[in-house]
Amino acid sequence: MTEQMLSSILVIGSANMDMVVQTERFPSAGETILGRNLLVNSGGKGANQAVAAARLGADVTFVCKVGDDGNGKNAIKHFKKEQINTDYVFIDKFRPTGTAFITVNKEAENQIIVVAGANDFLAKQDIDIAEQAIEKADIVLIQLEIPVETVEYAIQKATEKGKKVILNPAPAQQIPENLYRNLFLITPNLTEAENLTGIKITDLTTAKYAAIELLCRGVQNVIITLGANGAYVQTTQQQAHIPAPKVNALDTTAAGDVFNGALAVALTEGLDIFKATAVACKAAAISTTKRGSQSSAPNRKELMRS
Ligand code: RIB
Repeated sequence: MTEQMLSSILVIGSANMDMVVQTERFPSAGETILGRNLLVNSGGKGANQAVAAARLGADVTFVCKVGDDGNGKNAIKHFKKEQINTDYVFIDKFRPTGTAFITVNKEAENQIIVVAGANDFLAKQDIDIAEQAIEKADIVLIQLEIPVETVEYAIQKATEKGKKVILNPAPAQQIPENLYRNLFLITPNLTEAENLTGIKITDLTTAKYAAIELLCRGVQNVIITLGANGAYVQTTQQQAHIPAPKVNALDTTAAGDVFNGALAVALTEGLDIFKATAVACKAAAISTTKRGSQSSAPNRKELMRS
């Protein structure tokens, strides 16, 4: 990734308000422990990916649904500040903006509970309204924090229009079999890859088995993210393990989202999938050195400097 090129990315997904607390360790069932440094900031897998891509200079349109409440209004204000096109941020009059409750332990790991709220009501009709945005996009990036029927519908529409679709299958859940063949790329993490394929991933060989299983279902390319160990990339022709830069991680929340946002930008700028994955690993590593979700996504200067 060198100078900036304006790539057009459409992100379809969730927007949440994240309530993040740091603790020494995760509590056990029935236990009360003390936390510190409450951070309230914009999150949601879709929104995080949209912000990550916009910070790297892409022209980003975000399709999501928020509530008619303070959190929803703040989210929209925040997206505008990040130069994201909010023409297709829908407002649900009856449900609240999604909220996520996040605990980060001293190993920088997280546990997340999402109350979906308005995200659960992003519907097929909303995707129809956003049709022009699909037409304009170079790449469409989607996750699973909105209804699966909407995901399926959006992927179908984007495919009919000849668009490349990246599915980040997070949070882990099963997806309809017929969806795979419409994907240019799927980007599960370890847990999600195991959940989708039933293959326990313990090393690069088992990562390869899982990736090949996904290719057999019809996806064109697979990237399994491996946290601090980087990512495993499998195409129909080649495969590679891309290591991640070593950093002192403080909070790994949204590292996967930053990875996907950066990956989409690098691909639309013409990098091959292996080089694009290296850029995405770098962006994700930087994000783990900072607290929060969108607050941790690097901008282009930071990425190029590191
Ligand atoms: O991937 C991290 C995100 O998951 C958080 O921002 C939270 O909102 C949940 O969607």
